Amino acid sequence: MCGIVGYVGRDNGQRSSALETVAPAFDQESSEAQHGALDVVMEGLRRLEYRGYDSAGVAVITPDGIESRKKAGKLTNLVAELVADPLPRSLTGIGHTRWATHGGPTDQNAHPHLADDGRLALIHNGIIENYAELKAELTGEGLTFISDTDTEVAAGLVGLLYRGLVESGVEGDHLTLALQQACQRLEGAFTLLAIHQDQPGVVAAGRRNSPLVVGLGDGENFLGSDVSGFIDFTRRAVELGQDQIVTITPDDVTITDFFGAPAGGREFHVSWDAAAAEKGGFDSFMEKEIHDQPDAVGQTLLGRSDVDGNLILDELRIDETILRSVDKIVVLACGTSAYAGQVAKYAIEHWCRIPTEVELSHEFRYRDPIVNEKTLVVAISQSGETMDTLMAVRYAREQGAKVVAICNTNGSTIPRESDAVLYTHAGPEIAVASTKAFLAQITAAYLLGLYLAQLRGNKYRDEIADVLADLSTIPAKIQAVLDDADKIKQLGADMANAKSVLFLGRHVGFPVAMEGALKLKELAYIHAEGFAAGELKHGPIALIEEGQPVVVVMPSPSARDSLHAKVVSNVQEIRARGAVTIVIAEAGDTTVEAYSEHVFYVPETPTLLAPLLTTVPLQIFALALASAKGYDVDQPRNLAKSVTVE
Ligand code: M6R
Repeated sequence: MCGIVGYVGRDNGQRSSALETVAPAFDQESSEAQHGALDVVMEGLRRLEYRGYDSAGVAVITPDGIESRKKAGKLTNLVAELVADPLPRSLTGIGHTRWATHGGPTDQNAHPHLADDGRLALIHNGIIENYAELKAELTGEGLTFISDTDTEVAAGLVGLLYRGLVESGVEGDHLTLALQQACQRLEGAFTLLAIHQDQPGVVAAGRRNSPLVVGLGDGENFLGSDVSGFIDFTRRAVELGQDQIVTITPDDVTITDFFGAPAGGREFHVSWDAAAAEKGGFDSFMEKEIHDQPDAVGQTLLGRSDVDGNLILDELRIDETILRSVDKIVVLACGTSAYAGQVAKYAIEHWCRIPTEVELSHEFRYRDPIVNEKTLVVAISQSGETMDTLMAVRYAREQGAKVVAICNTNGSTIPRESDAVLYTHAGPEIAVASTKAFLAQITAAYLLGLYLAQLRGNKYRDEIADVLADLSTIPAKIQAVLDDADKIKQLGADMANAKSVLFLGRHVGFPVAMEGALKLKELAYIHAEGFAAGELKHGPIALIEEGQPVVVVMPSPSARDSLHAKVVSNVQEIRARGAVTIVIAEAGDTTVEAYSEHVFYVPETPTLLAPLLTTVPLQIFALALASAKGYDVDQPRNLAKSVTVE
């Protein structure tokens, strides 16, 4: 939540105007003076806007002091403000795009917040839990506050400490020292970035339980909530540890702990392609990311077996004896990632015969769960920053469990705090609604399940090779679903006025149904719920009335235990009560046509792999329905891509 960018450079005018992509008009009207810090910061904000889009703001250091602009609403509002009231040239700047926590999304509450009589500007991502107590204390010291935010309190504290250091004659980098002292006093989760007019060429930052990465340049350095904040300018990045302060100047990056002791970060190469984070000719990031899915699955599968056909997971650096002794798997995740975990549970239990629980991260540690050295925790997170999941990971490790993260974002916190990581290679996912990450997460979790089955001898090598061979056919099958999407798109558009849509599934189709419902809720803002088809008669069938649309994820007719026949019966039961049924079925399953108003086919595939196909029409349906309502599918209301607060 909230996107943060910081920049400091040595050379004026070296950047061409990235603002053209945000608002061409801005660039035309701006003078050469706008190239530099502002340009880099605005480009970073454009890429980070998916993290929060309630308001946005920037501050730069100019020869006349700190100058700031901020505006409620999306980044385009800030761009318009900058066009109307341009900022002078600068080489040091910070920028923020907000997802409101304390205080509504107003101009006043937007970041940056100023302190030290306007000489210091500060931005923040997170929640400062002891802000009320600090506010009272600072008010007692004579400070006044004009916003409702916890951030302004942090700014006030840093400003006061800065002034104290100056007035008491302390030598050195006052901004870094003040930030260190402030971070010692703050409770909660925060990334803070600050600049001070008396220290041009310096951006200081502090982080606890909130993301921040450093970008290394030549005569310039960058800070960002994630690497997208500077992906256009450098591929060299440094991940920071917990409770660290980092100070960047054009030529240096200095990392300490909150008490000034030297600390280090891990340098890594950013493999994401900047072009992959663009819309690539599609109307929305979401549409593009849906079309990226053959590649996302293909890339996640790439290079996973050796010449003898053994599955290899190089990154899984947990002692094999520990993995062999695992007697329980707990999958921890939220939202779509939790549904990926629920799909994976069916496969992992089937292949490995290890009891597998899937739990929402935010529920996990509050119920005294049974977790010990023999528990393997699998934490699934696209962003690698979800605070609920991070806290659950920490708790599980304290109980002695080993944690494997399944994550899409290099340099993020959850992999760093886990014992091992299996990266999904879906590429940057910008749309708030997760699509390609979901399919890549299922794929990675399947690889993990197969690897454990291989290691523990639950499956013969040829059985594993057969599943891998089936998995390798999935990208082409997803492509076939995408190529045949016109009908489902049309149906989505035709249903723009639906008030409620129900989703039914069974076995692996059950989490797919819940994922389909979540997509519709978050994009189209209508009531949608996913049910296990067998549960219908235990209550939800009372919701069915004349005309109620119900999407049914039909199991393959070749599925075990006559699941197909049972779901067909469910379809008949709801049709008898007036439901309009929309069925996602396997190619060739023409029997369902007699019981459905609309049928969409996906290619034949083994039951456990079916979610990698049946999810896709549901994503397209939600996208088309929300688009027909005229909603912003990339940035749905009230949401943020990366949920970094509990
Ligand atoms: O980054 P994560 O995978 O940890 O995020 C988890 C959820 O916040 C995320 O999947 C959310 O539910 C998406 N908006 C769903 O589309």
